[in-house]
Amino acid sequence: MSKSRTTYVCQKCGRRSPRYFGRCPSCGEWNTMVEEVEAPAPSPRHRRIAGLPQSRPTPLPEIRADGLERVPLPMAEFARVLGGGVVPGSLVLLGGDPGIGKSTLLLQVAAMVADDRKGPVLYVSGEESARQIKMRADRLGVQTPRLLVVTETHLETILRHVEEVKPWLLVVDSIQTAYTDALESAPGSISQVREVAARLQGWAKQTGVAVFLVGHVTKEGAIAGPKVLEHIVDTVLYLEGDRFHAYRLLRSVKNRFGATSEVGVFEMRSEGLVEVPNPSEVFLAERMVNAPGSAIAVTMEGTRPLLVEVQALVSTTSFGHPRRTANGVDFNRLLLLVAVLSRRVGLRLSDQDVFVNVVGGLRVEEPAVDLAVAVAVASSVHDRPVAADLAFIGEVGLSGELRAVSQLAARLKEAAKLGFRRCLVPWSRRPVEEAPEGLEVIPVRSLREAVGLALVKP
Ligand code: TYD
Ligand code: MG
Repeated sequence: MSKSRTTYVCQKCGRRSPRYFGRCPSCGEWNTMVEEVEAPAPSPRHRRIAGLPQSRPTPLPEIRADGLERVPLPMAEFARVLGGGVVPGSLVLLGGDPGIGKSTLLLQVAAMVADDRKGPVLYVSGEESARQIKMRADRLGVQTPRLLVVTETHLETILRHVEEVKPWLLVVDSIQTAYTDALESAPGSISQVREVAARLQGWAKQTGVAVFLVGHVTKEGAIAGPKVLEHIVDTVLYLEGDRFHAYRLLRSVKNRFGATSEVGVFEMRSEGLVEVPNPSEVFLAERMVNAPGSAIAVTMEGTRPLLVEVQALVSTTSFGHPRRTANGVDFNRLLLLVAVLSRRVGLRLSDQDVFVNVVGGLRVEEPAVDLAVAVAVASSVHDRPVAADLAFIGEVGLSGELRAVSQLAARLKEAAKLGFRRCLVPWSRRPVEEAPEGLEVIPVRSLREAVGLALVKP
């Protein structure tokens, strides 16, 4: 093998140099040089020896496009987010904040795959000792002999273990602890993280073994976290949620083998992550009917409609500036809605604190929840509850008008399924045809009109 050598590459201007500079000699930026291995391109002879396929341009119709082989998983919510199952030879990155439950989820999945007799599974941890993993496994009730565990961070050693075990699935927890000899920089640096991921990707494609990688979202944001890996891996999943709440959303943000923006919902219990097949019911379970300041929004998480409760509390500012606090909704969106409520609906909010919260620790980003947020605030101001059988869908515009949202039919169906009898939706030229049975769809043009309809008469 010809030797690979290390170079330093400026992330800003692309200048390559055999030695490290604190400041790039070409563009003058500081701290932009990152170590990279320059692997020599394999020669044709080399390829033959290594058994790599020779590439050959092929007319498009002659290329075989067999349906992707996808191995279903016993955990339906996880399989859904992957696009139906695990694709052999794929590299999947699971990102998320530390402590959110990534190791727990992958240990559960690893055990299920091993139990399913698909083949042995190798779980490589660089974060915890085998004993710690064993303790977690006991807690999760996992005890399959086909699940092999090793504590290792050295990539070359990991690959040697893999040759020996010949697993069907490899889990590497986490990418930030793994390192390769080919680079001198420390584990967790951008160069190491990228190089290890690229090597695992190549290896997965060559052997057809699926690889799951854990990546922590680092405090500094994108640096050496899952973001720098997104283009290397096939699939990127994020496990999200509030650490103080039990619910976790598993979201796919990139998937070379399936749809993105699929979402799986889990609950963190003492026995691990449990699938939640009917999330809307769970999120509404603790709802207090007839309490002022609460409204139900029908939001979409990927292709899946989800009903969430939005709560608002408005109280007189005791001193200084009025405060606005948004939990689970976008802060700037709340400011906008407060302004629209003041100017277009005539609510007096300039000397009022406004707090908004989405129940269950959920974060809802879409504008379609605007209407529910605004109605919840109005309900709290007037101290009058929202009718209990009413759900809300709609984006609010700056003139106080309601704007159409996507996937109305799916949203209405979910509202009907959960027993709501009426739903306020934005008026549109096209009449709503998709009204499910038992649900009265009420088109409204403005926020003012919606507030008038929504609040229970005193
Ligand atoms: P972990 O999977 O270690 O998080 P990550 O790998 O993303 O850093 O999960 C950590 C948290 O999950 C920890 O605070 C304890 C909690 N937990 C449970 O609530 N139930 C369980 O069964 C397990 C294993 C962990
Ligand atoms: Mg972990």
